[in-house]
Amino acid sequence: MSYPSGRHFLQIPGPTNVPERILRAIARPTIDHRGPEFAALGLELLEGVKEVFKTSKRVVIFPSSGSGAWEAALVNTLSPGDRVLMFETGQFATLWCDMARKLGLEVEFVPGDWRRGADPAAAERVLSEDRQRRIKAVGVVHNETSTGVTSRIAEIRKAMDRAGHPALLMVDSISSLASMDYRHDEWGIDVTVGGSQKGLMLPPGLSFNAISDKAMAASKTARMARSYWDWEAMLATNLNGFFPYTPATNLLYGLRESLQMLREEGLENVFARHARHGEATRRAVRAWGLEVLCLEPAEYSGSSTSVLLPAGHNADRLRKLILEQFNMSLGNGLGRLAGKVFRIGHLGDFNDLMLGGTLCGVEMGLAVAGVPHKTGGVAAALEYLTQAAQGALSGAAVGQA
Ligand SMILES: Cc1ncc(COP(=O)(O)O)c(C=O)c1O
Repeated sequence: MSYPSGRHFLQIPGPTNVPERILRAIARPTIDHRGPEFAALGLELLEGVKEVFKTSKRVVIFPSSGSGAWEAALVNTLSPGDRVLMFETGQFATLWCDMARKLGLEVEFVPGDWRRGADPAAAERVLSEDRQRRIKAVGVVHNETSTGVTSRIAEIRKAMDRAGHPALLMVDSISSLASMDYRHDEWGIDVTVGGSQKGLMLPPGLSFNAISDKAMAASKTARMARSYWDWEAMLATNLNGFFPYTPATNLLYGLRESLQMLREEGLENVFARHARHGEATRRAVRAWGLEVLCLEPAEYSGSSTSVLLPAGHNADRLRKLILEQFNMSLGNGLGRLAGKVFRIGHLGDFNDLMLGGTLCGVEMGLAVAGVPHKTGGVAAALEYLTQAAQGALSGAAVGQA
């Protein structure tokens, strides 16, 4: 193994590049998690983290990967045999559905083609037909990381309201949180599932549930077995800044730094930056003559872009060559998209020049791998980014599309 000089480009759609500031914040001695210094940290973070979810209610923080927070959302609010409505938007929606079934829930899984988000009309239809109100929760993945397609959560909420259905709305915002517009309270979401390793720019290892009053009330009567994920014990100790078990102390130092960085940039600017990088990436893909997997412009992702390769060309071979030749990791196709797509992550601590470098690596890789394409993708992206920068200088906003 020879030393790969220069910085590795980690352009998978999470875990994302952890900035120096956060690495330094984490690199401090671990403190007593039952002591006063920790209590102050806990109280500060449990309050501060609400800003990124846009909630005034409560957020719990688990020392776990995102899948743990999926499980917490289900087991705290539901009872064995309850029906849940979910949408097959891609691999992560499929995994959440599998988990719900393993836990003893009955899932109605609306089929999808992995190129579109959850369909609000389908939600309205299924919920309207559920006259006995057997469906207790609707679960949607906001940004389907496996496809780069974003579901329109506010429209799903409206569809639920039109159907007059009382089900809880649970949303996985693991790869949209702190990257794309997300509003837990305003969109009437009952449980939001989050993770540390994407827009929050932290290493993997923290997960979140933002919890509405309605979800809290449901948790009082929910009968699914729960222990580690139990909100009640968590919220009781959180009142004093503590956790019922050993928290991920050093990741929490990192979270404090992350929240500070997001405040300094401003959440709306963070969202605009991600949208700009999504648009620049799609322009590059189109200029290469390749296809963006996402079919609906209203559902384009600011976090990641999945690119379809022409039939007969294997995306994993392309990714392997790019890793070997240019020291860049791109996301692989998951589930039914294995070998067919590669995914460009453009979320987290990222800027125009990093995107430029990323797209250069892809364009060179396409040539090295012999994938039929046109040159000029990088140029198309840079032109767009230049216009955006000029617009920022003159105070004029650059259109997204
Ligand atoms: C949208 C989405 N949901 C759930 C998960 C699962 O999270 P984890 O791998 O942290 O358990 C991921 C992971 O990438 C994800 O992107």
